[in-house]
Amino acid sequence: MRVLIGGGSGFVGRELTRLLRDKGHEVTVISRQPGPGKITWGELESRGLPPCDGAVNLAGENLMNPLRWWNESYKKDLFSSRIDTTKALSQAIAASQSPPHSWVLVSGVACYKPSLTAEYTEDSEWTPFDFLSQLVKEWEEAALLPENVANNTKQVVIRSGVVLGRDGGAMKQMLLPFWLGLGGTLGSGTQPFPWIHVSDLAGIIAGSLEPPADPPSTSPQVYNGVAPALNTNYEFTKELGRILRRPTIFPVPGFVMSALMGSERATVLTEGQKVVPNRTLESGFQYKYPDLTSALKQIVEN
Ligand SMILES: NC(=O)c1ccc[n+]([C@@H]2O[C@H](COP(=O)([O-])OP(=O)(O)OC[C@H]3O[C@@H](n4cnc5c(N)ncnc54)[C@H](OP(=O)(O)O)[C@@H]3O)[C@@H](O)[C@H]2O)c1
Repeated sequence: MRVLIGGGSGFVGRELTRLLRDKGHEVTVISRQPGPGKITWGELESRGLPPCDGAVNLAGENLMNPLRWWNESYKKDLFSSRIDTTKALSQAIAASQSPPHSWVLVSGVACYKPSLTAEYTEDSEWTPFDFLSQLVKEWEEAALLPENVANNTKQVVIRSGVVLGRDGGAMKQMLLPFWLGLGGTLGSGTQPFPWIHVSDLAGIIAGSLEPPADPPSTSPQVYNGVAPALNTNYEFTKELGRILRRPTIFPVPGFVMSALMGSERATVLTEGQKVVPNRTLESGFQYKYPDLTSALKQIVEN
């Protein structure tokens, strides 16, 4: 299979590329920078979609970029880096003479309203209620293919939780303070913490890229990209401390997180959703890291 990955140079994209190449597939990355095995977004626009059997979009300005202050220009970049790249790919697929059989977008669980009690499956209804949920709405809409193309191209949306892995994402920023014994719960700690190991997310994406068995439905198939274990921030914090053999006695109050990160962004960590991957499990996907202990051990001990 030939797979095109927008933003494939990033944390999730590197893991997905490794997995696909191990399975014998060919990968081309779409990037802002030219290079071997890559095309640029400008080339996609000017030359159209290169021949491919599957396409994925993972591009997006990092939401947890510690070097960027939470302001209008950052918020604009969060939107445009996701929506413009997703639109560029869906339009290139729609305009292609031979569109791929699968088109996958990785979005986020921020569409579900934070709650200590509600449990969200892929079938849960939602409407935007804040900055990040509005972002998810416009991002997923940007991926939609016209009906005549969707008849032949399977559309998949994977709503990912916080992606855990050694080479990037949240863990890259958390490991040092935890190693130094400065880790602690964020906010109250009782909030749900939807997470997934990067290797499992790559596995769900790779599975979604397989050709459809039946003619695809014209609306996207949604999968919650989270581990089946439902954990709180407290459980995550204590388990990471236990595996690292470090104390986790320095809670960071919610108002400090909001002051440091901006309240709209801090909600990802100080509030959370119980997200259940019903359809992912029903699809028969076998998690390598279904629980925190196995996921964190793999990350810390490798
Ligand atoms: N990591 C998580 O915890 C998490 C959770 C939920 C959802 N997601 C979503 O999953 C996708 C992949 O996540 P990731 O952690 O792999 O992302 P990442 O490493 O932060 O970024 C992926 C790629 O996006 C491209 N990119 C960055 N800023 C951009 C900009 N301003 N304009 C256009 N492209 C830009 C970069 O590629 P080039 O430099 O090659 O252009 C980068 O390698 C993202 O869309 C993210 O929102 C991630």
